Amino acid sequence: MAVPADEALFLSMLLKLMNAKNTMEIGVFTGYSLLNTALAIPEDGTILAIDINREMYEIGLPVIEKAGMAGKIDFREGTALTILDQLLNEEKYKGLFDFVFVDADKFNYLNYHKRVIELVRVGGVIAYDNSLYSGLVAAPPDEPLYRGNTSDRDAIVELNKVLAADPRIEVCQLSIADGLSLCRRLY
Ligand SMILES: C[S@@+](CC[C@H](N)C(=O)[O-])C[C@H]1O[C@@H](n2cnc3c(N)ncnc32)[C@H](O)[C@@H]1O
Repeated sequence: MAVPADEALFLSMLLKLMNAKNTMEIGVFTGYSLLNTALAIPEDGTILAIDINREMYEIGLPVIEKAGMAGKIDFREGTALTILDQLLNEEKYKGLFDFVFVDADKFNYLNYHKRVIELVRVGGVIAYDNSLYSGLVAAPPDEPLYRGNTSDRDAIVELNKVLAADPRIEVCQLSIADGLSLCRRLY
């Protein structure tokens, strides 16, 4: 469920190179990528972390606390769409985030993109995990999938098309781990 170590190392380096301070994570699970981000951002950095399930976050929380990183995290339990809409209702969140990591329900990635693009600052980065979906984005639509489900795969295929055509972002799709699409906001 968590990102693999090579992706975590890459993201850690990226966050440091960007001097990212205000960050967001959609899809926390037990908090591996969350802790990775917390360790990469400065002392006064923040992570607004969203997950539908607090129980899983609490399993990993003792490790986050032991690392002295809990103070950087503002965990919000709920469906990401609802929480993103709440954030968009408050002017202070628009353009606030340097970096947003999206790693939740694939079916909603496009819905997240429509919202998160307004929350990330110009020059900031939105990272979509699983954008190659084990390479299955390139499989014929009627081929049986050996992992995941067709609707998630189709949602990722659609996301990739929309990202490639979105003039507000510059996209870099990496074949690291399960595929990682970095989108830099241009305006
Ligand atoms: C792949 S896991 C995240 C793994 C984590 N980013 C890591 O690498 O350590 C996906 C998470 O998304 C959460 N999730 C799924 N649907 C969601 C939704 N609609 N809103 C918020 N969180 C959701 C799940 O509860 C799960 O914890």
